[in-house]
Amino acid sequence: MRRKHLVAIVVVIFLTWNLLMYYMLVSKNPGKTGSGSVEDQLRGLQGDIHRQLSQNSELLQQLRKFREQKLAEKLDREIHKTTTPVPLNVDKIILPILLIACDRTTVSRSLDLLLKYRPNKDKFPIIVSQDCGHKPTADVIQRYVVDHGVQHIKHPNTSDIHLPWPQKKFQGYYKLSRHYKWALNQVFHTYNHSAVIIVEDDLDISPDFYEYFSATFPILHQDPSLWCVSAWNDNGKVEMVSDDAELLYRTDFFPGLGWMMEKSTWLELGPKWPNAFWDDWMRHPDQRKGRACIRPEICRTSTFGKKGVSKGLFYEKHLKFIKLNNKFVPFTKKDLTYLMKDKYDAYFTKLVKETPEVTVAEAMAGHKSNLKALKILYSTKEEFKSTAKKLGIMDDFKAGVPRVAYNGVVSFMYRGQRIYLSPPPNWKGYDPKWS
Ligand SMILES: *[C@@H]1O[C@H](CO)[C@@H](O)[C@H](O)[C@H]1NC(C)=O
Ligand SMILES: *[C@@H]1O[C@H](CO)[C@@H](O)[C@H](O)[C@H]1NC(C)=O
Repeated sequence: MRRKHLVAIVVVIFLTWNLLMYYMLVSKNPGKTGSGSVEDQLRGLQGDIHRQLSQNSELLQQLRKFREQKLAEKLDREIHKTTTPVPLNVDKIILPILLIACDRTTVSRSLDLLLKYRPNKDKFPIIVSQDCGHKPTADVIQRYVVDHGVQHIKHPNTSDIHLPWPQKKFQGYYKLSRHYKWALNQVFHTYNHSAVIIVEDDLDISPDFYEYFSATFPILHQDPSLWCVSAWNDNGKVEMVSDDAELLYRTDFFPGLGWMMEKSTWLELGPKWPNAFWDDWMRHPDQRKGRACIRPEICRTSTFGKKGVSKGLFYEKHLKFIKLNNKFVPFTKKDLTYLMKDKYDAYFTKLVKETPEVTVAEAMAGHKSNLKALKILYSTKEEFKSTAKKLGIMDDFKAGVPRVAYNGVVSFMYRGQRIYLSPPPNWKGYDPKWS
């Protein structure tokens, strides 16, 4: 009996609910009656359900994104933990020389000088990385392995790189970039070094090459606004440098040609290393990020090779005349902290500001030739180029930065006088459109 009662009550409730629902549906759209309006309402309901569904899936997507973000953050923290530099003992730092070689047997000339001036084989191990699989070159390098404990590693991938026709002529640049990436990964990941000095197989070095890099390493390591030390001065021709071999500078222009970087820099650049033209890629603001390099007044490397990927004409016109330093400067016994950004910027800005200003014509005519230094201002790209041409310095830009420039100022010698080719005091920074 009680059960029948219950069933009856449930049935009544069910019917009432249905009636109520029907009433509600009808009264929602009081203007319409008949089957048309019910259809409309059903359609409406369907729409509601669809909206609800899409909201749900959006919610789900957001949740997924959130989860991925959290995972990425966690991974980031873990990677960071493993790559946070352990405090380095800068005096005991090992600075391997990575010599990039290919198919030039004259690599022996570079190796001879690297060995001749090397003060300590444990502090400066030499790693020759060879691309191209050239047997005669491999044989030459192998002699140094046997006689001097030089390490010889070979790029395993010497395959041609498939390029569409207009880029075909740049094959060499593509291979070079691929080789650099592989070799630097070996240095930092396989051999786990903390820094590297990179040279190529056509470079001579100065007697104080190792001394220069040893002494500047602690500065590079301490100053996050520096990302390299280079042996090169792009305006390093004999008549454009003073004979003060101690002089060092900061530059916003990445010079390359015998240069040092730390592992932290490679961890940043390695994963996005370009397929070609790696040096210009490094000069782009996306990579440089406002950082500077240390460079000398007088080059600590010079190139003897004509045959090469990028050289040739550039060698005949320019590289041939670069002065290689021949004195030994005991840099490690000197205080180089003046190269740290704060100190250097204050000193350099004041120096340029206080230097008397002349026009190019005046400088060329020997006005004020009794003064040690002169300043010439430039405000436009054309002004810079025309002045540079007249005075014989490099007149090109990469990513808007003139070679050798620091805070827009290019420093060089002209007929025995120091010249600062400088932007005006209200300078706003480099314009990447200048080229
Ligand atoms: C060799 O390099 C080419 C082009 O960079 C690349 O496509 C290929 O996968 C590489 N081969 C190996 C075995 O790494
Ligand atoms: C790599 O070098 C770092 C810093 O010198 C050191 O802490 C770490 O243990 C080394 N890792 C390996 C696998 O040798």
